[in-house]
Amino acid sequence: MTVRAPKRYTGKVAVVTGAASGIGRAIVEGLLAEGAMVVANDVSAGPLTELQGDQVVTVAADVREPGAAQQLADAARGLGDGRIDVLFNNAGISRARPAAEVDDATWSHVMGVNNDAAFHVATAVGRVMIEQGHGAVLNTASVAGTHGLPGNVPYVVSKHAVVGLTRALAVEWGVHGIRVNALCPGLTATGMNTRVRAVDSGYWEAREAVVPLRRAGTPEEQAAVALFLNSEEASYVSGLIAEVDGGTHALYAGYAVNRPE
Ligand SMILES: NC(=O)c1ccc[n+]([C@@H]2O[C@H](COP(=O)([O-])OP(=O)(O)OC[C@H]3O[C@@H](n4cnc5c(N)ncnc54)[C@H](O)[C@@H]3O)[C@@H](O)[C@H]2O)c1
Repeated sequence: MTVRAPKRYTGKVAVVTGAASGIGRAIVEGLLAEGAMVVANDVSAGPLTELQGDQVVTVAADVREPGAAQQLADAARGLGDGRIDVLFNNAGISRARPAAEVDDATWSHVMGVNNDAAFHVATAVGRVMIEQGHGAVLNTASVAGTHGLPGNVPYVVSKHAVVGLTRALAVEWGVHGIRVNALCPGLTATGMNTRVRAVDSGYWEAREAVVPLRRAGTPEEQAAVALFLNSEEASYVSGLIAEVDGGTHALYAGYAVNRPE
């Protein structure tokens, strides 16, 4: 049996931040395979150049920079007839360390990328979506947006704020025909954790062992849900906080250790 790839994004204009690596990269590859025209942004210019073709425009920029959000919206408007159909607000960073050791620069960096920039990109693109009367926005939060994690306070606080941003925009922008949802990845093997997987495989295996599916997810598995949520197939889904984590959120941590037989 031949399985035909869906073409849910034919002719659609998309913006993806954090597009050079991991989940963002998988989202861009999925969008291109499904016929979208894509503005792909990342602060990391080198890997971004690997995304090539007449359907993609790359914008190497730090999303925190003043004007970067507007630059992305303008680039997307230039791709088609001024429309922007979908935004994948995905760029994010994590800086794990004990709370008492978080300095101001670390706090500002995490908040600047995960919150301030997410808000600025959402609103720069959102103004276009409001004008056109339709659109879909997917913010990448995390299971750290719905739960506490040890040793990563700025990340946990910033991702809870991404969940808040998602709910607030979903209820405000629904009247304009704009859907806003959040993807909350659980443990996923990406650039964000390359180093820890390399230097401490025991830690990584222990993390995988408490996932009900007993493994980390892949960027492609996250992208599959992301592409669904911003597609017309999800036309009645808004304000959803989608935990894509192999079942981890369903587990009360007090029972992560197996009962003896
Ligand atoms: N990997 C996981 O286990 C996991 C779990 C939960 C949530 N997430 C979230 O998923 C999203 C994607 O991360 P990933 O796991 O694919 O990691 P990744 O590191 O592979 O990709 C993140 C990308 O964002 C880019 N980026 C960082 N700062 C930027 C900035 N200032 N401007 C523009 N681009 C910037 C990076 O260069 C990188 O290419 C993030 O929001 C992250 O918080 C990841």
